[in-house]
Amino acid sequence: MTSPKEILQFKKEKAKEILESKGFFRPKRVYVGLATCEIAAGSQSIMDIFQSETGNMSDVFVSAKGCAGRCNLEPTVEIVEEGKETVKYVSVNEEKARQIIEKHLKKGEIISEWVVK
Ligand code: FES
Repeated sequence: MTSPKEILQFKKEKAKEILESKGFFRPKRVYVGLATCEIAAGSQSIMDIFQSETGNMSDVFVSAKGCAGRCNLEPTVEIVEEGKETVKYVSVNEEKARQIIEKHLKKGEIISEWVVK
């Protein structure tokens, strides 16, 4: 008979497997704002660029985030890296998205003029 403790352990391992298979534990995490107002500001095309152009980068995880209370600065993109301060890019357009991928994600260069503190 399986004990409750064994069932809990099994569920934890399954949850970890699912998160790992989706890339959740990768060291570079990109969050594109996809709240309704962000979508109205054009963030879906930004998400499409990050998803398609980082698809072969095994160290990058891309996901959506919700309302950040900064409608006037949308679309927004947050980059979270292990051991580093979170970087939040604002007013991101398609060209900026490609440069963020090339400079920040591939070379580690923060484009400070597009960052909000
Ligand atoms: S309503 Fe626009 S960021 Fe929340």
